[in-house]
Amino acid sequence: MYSQAKVIAGGLAHIPIVIAVFYFILTTFNKRALKFVEEAKTKKPEAKAVETKKVAVSKTEAPKTEAPKIVKKKHADVPVNIYRPKTPYEGTVIENYSLLKEGAIGRVNHITFDLKDSDPFLNYVEGQSIGIMPAGEDANGKPHKLRLYSIASTRHGDDFNGNTVSLCVRQLQYEKDGETINGVCSTYLCDIKPGDKVKITGPVGKEMLLPDEEDANIVMLATGTGIAPMRAYLRRMFEPTEKEKNKWNFKGKAWLFMGAPKSANLLYEEDLQRYIADHPDNFKYTKAISREQQNTKGGRMYIQDRVLESANELFNMIEDEKTHIYLCGLKGMEPGIDEAMTKAAEEKGLNWAELRPQLKKAGRWHVETY
Ligand code: FAD
Ligand code: A2P
Repeated sequence: MYSQAKVIAGGLAHIPIVIAVFYFILTTFNKRALKFVEEAKTKKPEAKAVETKKVAVSKTEAPKTEAPKIVKKKHADVPVNIYRPKTPYEGTVIENYSLLKEGAIGRVNHITFDLKDSDPFLNYVEGQSIGIMPAGEDANGKPHKLRLYSIASTRHGDDFNGNTVSLCVRQLQYEKDGETINGVCSTYLCDIKPGDKVKITGPVGKEMLLPDEEDANIVMLATGTGIAPMRAYLRRMFEPTEKEKNKWNFKGKAWLFMGAPKSANLLYEEDLQRYIADHPDNFKYTKAISREQQNTKGGRMYIQDRVLESANELFNMIEDEKTHIYLCGLKGMEPGIDEAMTKAAEEKGLNWAELRPQLKKAGRWHVETY
């Protein structure tokens, strides 16, 4: 017969067994957990994505090799859409002046806005764009839609205080049924006065960013206001006070191909000449002045004609994996540039149709045309 005391004593006698089993399970689990932590510690961190990737330049006859594995930089730290159309930032115009000389065609202005009161702060980096919402309404009584403009200033702004943004705007004008039509937003921007408030959105765009590498080579192909992002790049590379601010010690080669209808239409010419004088080994500037110069066929001189003239030197640069090419301005120039690149590549035994997608994939071919 079991007495209550015997039952209790029997129960107590099992306690050491239960503790032993529990201890065994615990130590086995801890050992595994420790092993896992140690393994995790000794694992190498993931290779950091870099912007300049190795891309084999494909010769026409070269055997096809497996495409190189490319890790594109995510640019996660680049600001985008701080201000959207429903809640734009109202920036104040600081200055608005013509960039053209006597005898130039049309109207192209440099316009600067104050951003210092923006909260959150509207910061941006070189190569981005902002949206402008022109005042007034469209034909349907709705507010005008925003138009994008490439930023022409560095992140430090034209006055180096880091709280302005500048644009380079051509007024759109065309003839229709015998009448001159003025573009809505470009006319609004060319007409605004210092002190006026303007609705700004953005920044947007990650296509035209500069690489981080100080020894990168930067080839720029611009027509008209397509110079806007290039102006920001060149200031970042060569403008003394800007360089003090950005601590980016550019050591590569910059080559600007610039297309304008007349000499009087060349934009930021004095600055560019100063950069050449100060940095003759790092900056090359090639102009195509369409209505004053002729190409070999007797037609208007376009930047693609200049590209062909410089085919050998240009493709020597492109074969260097540190070279990036930026194209900005008229959409219409794209086929012409492609044709010129095809011919220029052929002269070097290269196939542009194969090479271009490789450069694009490697983040070295940057296009923003409109
Ligand atoms: P709108 O009043 O919108 O008129 C344009 C419309 O007019 C066209 O859509 C077309 O329907 C019609 N049209 C145009 N030309 C003709 C023609 N010849 N015949 C008949 N119809 C015609 N512009 C700059 O000046 N500087 C920049 O830095 C710049 N950067 C840009 C960056 C990006 C990413 C993009 C997408 C565009 C950029 N633009 C830039 C262009 C800018 O966004 C506007 O498109 C331009 O200013 C014209 O806008 P608008 O309101 O004046 O013209
Ligand atoms: P053009 O107008 O003489 O034909 P802007 O914007 O100040 O007018 O400058 C644009 C420049 O680009 C002009 O010199 C213009 O020449 C030139 N251009 C026009 N069409 C093309 C094209 N398809 N390819 C390259 N350049 C072009």
